[in-house]
Amino acid sequence: MKFFIGNWKMFGILSSKKIIEKINKFKTKDRSNNYKIIITPPYTLIESFAKKFKNSNVAIGAQNCFFKEKFSSNTGAISPFMIKKSGASYVIVGHSDNRAEGDNDEKLKLKLNFCLKLNLRVIFCIGENKKEKQKKITFKVLGKQLRNVLSKKFDPNKIIVAYEPVWSIGTGLVPKNKDLSKTINFIKSSLRKLYNYKCPPVLYGGSVDEKNINQLKNLKEIDGFLIGGASKSSKKFIDIIKNYYR
Ligand code: PGA
Repeated sequence: MKFFIGNWKMFGILSSKKIIEKINKFKTKDRSNNYKIIITPPYTLIESFAKKFKNSNVAIGAQNCFFKEKFSSNTGAISPFMIKKSGASYVIVGHSDNRAEGDNDEKLKLKLNFCLKLNLRVIFCIGENKKEKQKKITFKVLGKQLRNVLSKKFDPNKIIVAYEPVWSIGTGLVPKNKDLSKTINFIKSSLRKLYNYKCPPVLYGGSVDEKNINQLKNLKEIDGFLIGGASKSSKKFIDIIKNYYR
């Protein structure tokens, strides 16, 4: 099974549900391929979208959460419990945008812990930045990001790992297939070690679009894609899926 996840970031208002309606219509017709679609709109849309798309072919998730479980006096924060009660079933944790804003391993571990406890599935993002890539310490960085946050006691069936090199997010740059294949295999072998041969799905994210999917799809070890910019257009998002299976 493959995953196509649309991360809308700070885009979307109520009328943007039309994008999901079109994607849902497409998926409802396309029964031949085995894949799952998840859309993560801004917090403000989760409740209404989760209701609207409850029995549809599109699952709804959140883009982040605060590192406390339920209620607290943190202004502007949204907890895993509130997300769960809004009807979402997935949460992105550890996106490089949020790491840049202060999410460290300790906070990320708390976030994962609370999400999983509440039965929310986690899309855990990891990735090296440009400097780390140039220094050729990508595997060291990724290994640490995995080890420091993923605990053996987490259920690997509830986790999806998304490899998103920071230098490829929103830049139009995508790793070469040869390099990407090595990295995905490294992540998978690290996860297998951690989870006793049970390996969560490993996705790729960073500038995925309807064109470069034609080369990315050759890497069968990739279990799906986390799509930012291109997911704001139903046409582009659907074309990514169509081209993947073509
Ligand atoms: P992008 O974003 O597809 O626009 O590069 C990916 C992401 O940030 O998840």
